[in-house]
Parts: sequence; structure tokens; C-alpha cells
Amino acid sequence: MPDKDDYVEINIVVLPGDGIGPEVIRAAVAVLDAVGERFGHNFQTQEYLIGGCAIDNYGTALPENTLAACRAADAVLLGAVGGPKWDDPNAKVRPEDGLLGLRKELGLFANLRPVRATSVSMQISPIRPQRLQGVDLMVVRELTGGIYFGQPRGRKIIGDEVQAVDSMVYTKSEVRRIANLAFDLAGQRRNKVTSVDKANVLESSRLWREVVNEVAAHYPHVTLEHNLVDAAAMYLISRPQTFDVILAANLFGDILTDEASVLAGSMGLLPSASLGESRNTQGYPLGLYEPIHGSAPDIAGKNIANPVGAILSAALLLRHSLGFEAEAEIVEDAVEKTLSTGNVTIDLAAPGQRTLTTGEVTQFVVKSISDDEE
Ligand code: IPM
Ligand code: MN
Repeated sequence: MPDKDDYVEINIVVLPGDGIGPEVIRAAVAVLDAVGERFGHNFQTQEYLIGGCAIDNYGTALPENTLAACRAADAVLLGAVGGPKWDDPNAKVRPEDGLLGLRKELGLFANLRPVRATSVSMQISPIRPQRLQGVDLMVVRELTGGIYFGQPRGRKIIGDEVQAVDSMVYTKSEVRRIANLAFDLAGQRRNKVTSVDKANVLESSRLWREVVNEVAAHYPHVTLEHNLVDAAAMYLISRPQTFDVILAANLFGDILTDEASVLAGSMGLLPSASLGESRNTQGYPLGLYEPIHGSAPDIAGKNIANPVGAILSAALLLRHSLGFEAEAEIVEDAVEKTLSTGNVTIDLAAPGQRTLTTGEVTQFVVKSISDDEE
């Protein structure tokens, strides 16, 4: 019998966004409902607009009411933003501004992107199975600094020339807090941090490396290595098993995680958690949870998108923002069971293999969560 405290209202803001966002978020919410049902948790979900659909309705990618709801939430679950409709390079507002604004406003400086190779990865990844055996890494991507936010930024006309500038800016304290988080995480895993930078060229990377070395001195049980980002891109493919925690600046982490998704087998599989300092009513970090894939407008509305990245993001939400470790593991096990028994969307299908719709894969996961109940 669940105890009375389990019925505390848990307030989850849901931001489906654009493209396949609504489809995969519907899947993740169905999974949360199944978990709530099984464990007696009272999950209240409220939907708000972000990205292109918000631009269409409010003229801004991050409406006030969306931001206010997110600030007050226990956790935020997001699908994806963007699409060709809003891609005009001269547009004043872009869907991506909504997501970047939300990360910045909520102070979500740490983006965790776990990557694991499973039996499905071995079948589907273009990387040889023996290189994938045992791959289990976590990219810790700095999310509110670096070239995504640095000033100066913009365009100017110099004589008859047009110049565009972005700035990669980091302060010591920004590097220190993300490095501390990476070392803490490594301590709970296999005690290794690989810090990624371009210190042979970039001034901001030299500061990054210096601060990471300072932080490392406080974690004598954790091994630190530094990789230049170009080399890291190569090692991720040539020897992915050697990584535990990869610590990277905003842009480098963005690029390397798309690459790392090839180890798992499909971009559609990877979840992410973005965390900061603010705490929710449960005393856990207020987090933003989103699959790493984008809005995939080419397949939107067809019920063929892989819901697993979104579903695993819901599992991370249960773990990091609610402290529901057992519930998170049940979701992860249900996904593993679903995929390993061949219940996959088209992106994961081997040649000739039967493929399921988004809805069918979701039903399989939901059923597996509900059936385990005694
Ligand atoms: C991601 C995405 C975003 C990013 C885009 C949509 C702004 O690529 O979450 O990885 O670059 O951070
Ligand atoms: Mn990305």
C-alpha cells in the first residue's frame, strides 16, 4: 500500500514543441502515467508552448507564461523545437531561442547525456560490435556559457564587407562548477574524467584546462585525462570503451553527443537531463529533460519517430528531479526489454526486420511497466 506522502502532487510541465516533439512527448507522458499508476504517485502534467509553435501563437519562442510555469514546476519535460517554417536566416525570432532562453533563465548549466551500447546497438551501429562491447559513458556538457552565449556577438558592416562574430567566453567559476559536477559523477561511476578542449589554439580552452586541473586536485581517486576536441572525436569512434565521464564546453559537447549517439545505434535513443542550482518542492534539482534528437520535421506526424529518447528522458526526470531511482530503473528495464525483443521503430530496424510505430513501441513499454506489478 503506497503511503500517504506518495500522493503529494508532483507538478511536471510538458513542452511538446515542434516536429516530432508532440509525438515523442505523448509517449513519455504515457510512460509517466504508467509509473504513477503502479507506484501511487500523483503526477500532474500541464502543457505549454515553446519554439516555433510559440512564435506562431505569441510572436516569441519562450512566452512569459511558459517560463513562469517552468520556474514553478518540479521538473520540465521537453520534446524538440525548430523546423523549416521558422528557418529564415533573417528571422527576428527563432525556435531555438526558446530552448536556449529556458536553459539560461533556469540556470541549467549542466547537461548530462548518458550513452550506452546495448545488444540493439551491436546490431544497428556502423561501429564494429567488439568496439562497442561495454560502452557506457556520460557526457557532461556545459550548457549556459561558451560560444552559445558569449558577447560580443552579431553582425556589422565594415566598409563594403559584412562581418559576423560569435565569442567563446568562459569564467573560472563557470568552469569550476561544471568540472566539480563531472568529478562528483565520475566518483559514482568508474572514476575517470576526460576533459575536452582545444587548448592548443583557444584562450578560453587554456583557462578551461587550468581550472579543470585545479578541481582534479580535490578528487585524488578520479583519473583525469585531457583530450583535444579533434582527437576526442576520433577516440570516440576508435576506442569508445575507454571513456567514463566526458567533460566538455557547450559547443564541443553538442557536437560530440551527436557523434556518440552512433555508438548507441540511433539519435532517437539518447536522453538528456539539464540541471542547475535551483531546487524543486521535493528538495531535488529542478531539471529540464529532453531527448537529444531534434524536431525531425521530415518524419513529423507519421507515427514513426523513435519515442525511446523521450521515454528515457522521463526516466532521468524520475531519478534526478524526484529521487525515484527504482521507478527510473523500471522504465529503463522496460525499454531494454522492448528493444531487445525486436520491438523497434524504423530507425533501429535491421534490413527486413518488422518495424513498429511510435505508438506501438510506447504501448509495449507501458505494458511492460504495468505487467511487472504483482
Ligand atoms: C541540442 C540541440 C540544441 C543545442 C539546439 C536545438 C539549440 O542541438 O540540445 O543538442 O545546440 O543545444
Ligand atoms: Mn545538438
